[in-house]
Amino acid sequence: MNLTVKDLAVFTNGNPNKKPIIFVHGFPLDHFMWDKQVEFLSDDFYCVRYDIRGLGVSPAGDGQFTMESFVDDLESVIDELKLNKPVLCGLSMGGYISLRALERMQDKFSAVILCDTRSESDNNEGKLKRAAGIKRINTEGLAPFTKDFITNCYGEHYKQNNKTDLEKRIIKSSQFDPAGVKGSLLAMLGRNDTSEFLGRINIPALIICGEDDALTSPAVMKSMAEKINGSEFVIIKNSGHLSPIENPEEVNKAIGDFLKKL
Ligand code: MLT
Repeated sequence: MNLTVKDLAVFTNGNPNKKPIIFVHGFPLDHFMWDKQVEFLSDDFYCVRYDIRGLGVSPAGDGQFTMESFVDDLESVIDELKLNKPVLCGLSMGGYISLRALERMQDKFSAVILCDTRSESDNNEGKLKRAAGIKRINTEGLAPFTKDFITNCYGEHYKQNNKTDLEKRIIKSSQFDPAGVKGSLLAMLGRNDTSEFLGRINIPALIICGEDDALTSPAVMKSMAEKINGSEFVIIKNSGHLSPIENPEEVNKAIGDFLKKL
């Protein structure tokens, strides 16, 4: 961590005078998930990552989060670091935060990259699954929940070829504060639906989806991309829900090509 903003752990790489990109990670992960993108981009861009409140090393506090409070946190990081019109890049829960941030304050951003995410809020089945997750964490502890959740995120290709890495990531997330993980589940359960806003996105948008994403399928993401004027839609081979980790080469190429055109 190189600085804190309102208790949030913030990590910066690159020259602050270059164009900023702010990365918002998925659940139940932390800023590490963007390592390969930051490695690729930090010579030419000012890369800013942070651990979402309650995950990674950002403290959970009372664990009472909403999607609104997550967007407030994102805004605090942007304001505190005086980022001028950053590119916003979010994956899955980070995408929910990004979409709501655009709905609230699109003018603050110059472009958006949405990876493996959706604009719809949770349906009844989804809400009950979140509630079952919270109950499981309360009764069995965090480790079995993170093991199943994270394993389900990855595609078969990654799982077959990166067993040690997968284990390490599960162990890391199992050490998060359970109050923070449960707080994120509640924030996702209670988030608003941003679908109606998609047609009003007026900044360049890149939509990225792993071909084997079991949580936000290519069909769901293609339909989202079609509602965003002029957006680009890229499918990533050999990847499930965590495309920036599973196939960083293809994701970096898509992001690099997109950023060149801005
Ligand atoms: C994520 O990757 O952030 C989660 O899968 C999002 C979710 O559970 O809806």
